[in-house]
Amino acid sequence: MRKWNFCAGPAVISEEVLSEVQSELLEYPDSGSSIMEMSHRSSTYMKVALDAKQDLKDILKIPENYEILFLQGGATHQFSMIPMNFKNLTGSADYITTGSWTKKALIEGSKIMNIKEIYSSEKDSFTCAPDLENLELSENAAYVHYCPNETIEGNAIHEVPKINKPLVADMSSVILSEPIEIGNFSLIYAGAQKNIGPAGLTIVIIKKEFMEQCNSNLPNLFRYSEHAKSDSMLNTPPTFSWYVAGKVFKWIKKSGGLDFFKEQNKMKASKLYDFIDKSNFYSNPVKPANRSIMNVPFILKDSALDAPFLNESEENGLLNLKGHRSVGGMRASIYNAMPLEGVNELIKFMDYFESKQG
Ligand SMILES: Cc1ncc(COP(=O)(O)O)c(C=O)c1O
Repeated sequence: MRKWNFCAGPAVISEEVLSEVQSELLEYPDSGSSIMEMSHRSSTYMKVALDAKQDLKDILKIPENYEILFLQGGATHQFSMIPMNFKNLTGSADYITTGSWTKKALIEGSKIMNIKEIYSSEKDSFTCAPDLENLELSENAAYVHYCPNETIEGNAIHEVPKINKPLVADMSSVILSEPIEIGNFSLIYAGAQKNIGPAGLTIVIIKKEFMEQCNSNLPNLFRYSEHAKSDSMLNTPPTFSWYVAGKVFKWIKKSGGLDFFKEQNKMKASKLYDFIDKSNFYSNPVKPANRSIMNVPFILKDSALDAPFLNESEENGLLNLKGHRSVGGMRASIYNAMPLEGVNELIKFMDYFESKQG
């Protein structure tokens, strides 16, 4: 029996999508084989791939002057691919550190080019984010890197920084949760395994003008422009993940698009934060203005109760509430495919546990 899954990633996928995949698993309609057994260059697969790309373009309203790439290597691969591609511009870039993932991006980027950390909330355990009006950018920064939603700490930057430099965003855990203005960004990247679909696929949305400036002295597999030229089929792409992502995009469209998910996600998150804030037993350490809509970390009054909480929550059909090993406590990831009903069940259990232990 399927339970409520609060995993940060790989994360819950809509049951409707999974059922459709199941019904096509042995034979993709009228093809005689499974989608997994098919050449990525076959006309049947090419249609699946291009439809998925078009649906993503429609959902996010991606303008014509952007390329959409379906790559491998995870978001982590982008931590190096971005500096490799744009190092040649000025040799340096500015990074904003608001959590564990941007810290990793900075460490990896620093191995390749000169990176200036223009803000870090590490001393505050990544519970806050910078004042965007007063960012001190370097004059020669080739780009500015940030993460609008730090998955581990649940620390978010809800406004888009208004800067006159190319803006690069790690949207792994927030993409497709609400409409965004693509034109504000030069490059967006996201690992698929949260709001997009199964792991193994990484989406990159890159402004053509920015991409055309990329380092041409790189092996092809590391160059955005080569991936774009070959429609993300420079080599064999992650065909199954791409296909499932296409189903998720259709499900998003059918459900009412990103306006619908924005409302639903806001409602789910505010119910959970309201409950936590009213309780004397649970707390969330993040500055209210920076609280994530997707990942809600919380701690119990007494950490000795963590193990009983996790055991009992699992017995009650609530999976994967353990916080990331680096921060401890709990975390409920409430991506698009987690319905309000699942969040209500979580709150019901938290309330019961508090009244029993509190
Ligand atoms: C914000 C963010 N960036 C990067 C990553 C790393 O992604 P991957 O495991 O796909 O390399 C994650 C993974 O959870 C993430 O949440």
